[in-house]
Amino acid sequence: MTGQELYRKARKRIPGGTQLLAKRPEMFLPEQWPSYYSKASGSEVWDLDGNRYVDMSHNGVGACILGYADPDVDAAVRAAIDAGSMCTLNCPEEVELAELLCELHPWAEMVRYARCGGEAMAVAVRIARARTGREKIAFCGYHGWHDWYLAANLGSAGALDGHLLPGLAPAGVPRSLAGTALPFRYNQPGELEQIVAQHGPDLAAIVMEPVRGQAPAPGFLESARHLADRAGAALVFDEVTAAWRMNAGGAHLRFGVRPDIAVFAKAISNGYPMAAILGSGTVMQAAQDSFISSTYWTDRIGPAAALAAIRKMQRCGAPRRLIESGTRIQDGWRAAAERAGLAITVSGIPPLAHFAFDAPDGAVLRTLFTQAMLERGFLAKNAYYATCSHTADQIDQYLTAVNDVFRELARAISAGNVLKQLRGPVAHAGFSRLT
Ligand SMILES: Cc1ncc(COP(=O)(O)O)c(C=O)c1O
Repeated sequence: MTGQELYRKARKRIPGGTQLLAKRPEMFLPEQWPSYYSKASGSEVWDLDGNRYVDMSHNGVGACILGYADPDVDAAVRAAIDAGSMCTLNCPEEVELAELLCELHPWAEMVRYARCGGEAMAVAVRIARARTGREKIAFCGYHGWHDWYLAANLGSAGALDGHLLPGLAPAGVPRSLAGTALPFRYNQPGELEQIVAQHGPDLAAIVMEPVRGQAPAPGFLESARHLADRAGAALVFDEVTAAWRMNAGGAHLRFGVRPDIAVFAKAISNGYPMAAILGSGTVMQAAQDSFISSTYWTDRIGPAAALAAIRKMQRCGAPRRLIESGTRIQDGWRAAAERAGLAITVSGIPPLAHFAFDAPDGAVLRTLFTQAMLERGFLAKNAYYATCSHTADQIDQYLTAVNDVFRELARAISAGNVLKQLRGPVAHAGFSRLT
């Protein structure tokens, strides 16, 4: 069965086709994307149809900094399986990991665990609410699928637009949560200040990524810290995706601003489910005032994978390598666009690099880019999440292909036949119901 055939079957059995919006084939190349893999190793992916690709896209949606099936992390996981991955007693690795995380983040004293980013953020929000006895959350950016977050779209359907994924629908979220999640934009301290002025006494937390699409403007993170202190709210840094890429540990360490809680997930364990909620002792003790508990938050594989991944990322100088390859790609996109006469905007920290076509039919161009890169053996879209597994040769080959494809796109624009060259529908840009 081809990947496309299997996906058609999946859409009948699985509402929305996949478990993660960012893995929907419609987000890349509707009706043409390989959709399923038979094997993934390093930066290579084999689909169900006998094709091999180099993954120059999200690389496991940012979960595999060391590359797919990393031998050292996998060996630690195999050892955890051989020693019994589940038991009535607790695994010692969770204490070892807590010590390591607190060593790396000297401001932190205590750690709780979960397994996924969204749920770990929900734990952080619960702890902040338990600690303050307040309900409102000021936030910026994307933080998962849970009620506390989607509540922002109960008030105005577009509140979450611009926070990474447009169109997130809050059906099923209690209407009584309307007004509890208050959005502000990154690098707009005035917006946060206004929320604090209006809702300060009701504010449980300020929730944000310390960095992502752009560097923090001078004083922005400091002002979030100051405003949290003024309101008596917890400052929660979501490090689910940003951490471990620019430095060992949370990206906030680079900027010298201390949160009350930092949340880690997919970036710490190279493809195995693991999440950590790290905080100061006083804030984290509030976790004891609320019921926060789940069976699979105790499995051995997650902490074993995180310990092995963190140690390897440190050993091999992962951040330096990710910054280097991300910078090469960002520079390469700019140079290729200039040579082809295409207008693009490049953004993101180098390890989480993005570009956008500055054209009214940007979504069509992006889809055609993915189609043409797929023909050349690359899984690619307008984003590159760097991994340590990409070689200099692979990056060279990728950039040569980008050069050719950007020229093709420029020719198609001049000929007015961009849409005609697509062999399927245009890729989706945000959340929408599949029909
Ligand atoms: C900043 C941030 N927070 C939370 C999440 C949600 O994590 P998960 O998909 O593991 O639930 C993501 C996922 O992309 C993220 O980037």
